[in-house]
Amino acid sequence: MFYVITSACIDVKDATCKTVCPVDCIYEGGRMLYIQPDECINCAMCVPVCPVNAIYKHDEVPAAEQAFTAANAEFFGPGVTGWGEPGGAGEEYKSELDAPLVRDYPRK
Ligand code: F3S
Repeated sequence: MFYVITSACIDVKDATCKTVCPVDCIYEGGRMLYIQPDECINCAMCVPVCPVNAIYKHDEVPAAEQAFTAANAEFFGPGVTGWGEPGGAGEEYKSELDAPLVRDYPRK
């Protein structure tokens, strides 16, 4: 089980979610933040603090947003940052890169 950040975060990056995550599994990319699915402990603390309601439990992601489940994982894979499971979003784990879905997402 894990949570997923979806399109509402793109170009908003409020980042309050990152400050409340007890395991620091929310990482900053170029246009949005991403949840590392294997590090997420499913606590849901990030959900109510997001001002644009961008965060969903992975099995409750709206149909139109389901590509973001893969995009969150892809951000950590070899095609984007290659970070894998960093074990916590320290300053060294901040990137200007995005998953392709997000990189190519229309500007709001
Ligand atoms: Fe994005 Fe909401 Fe977090 S806008 S950075 S998911 S608080």
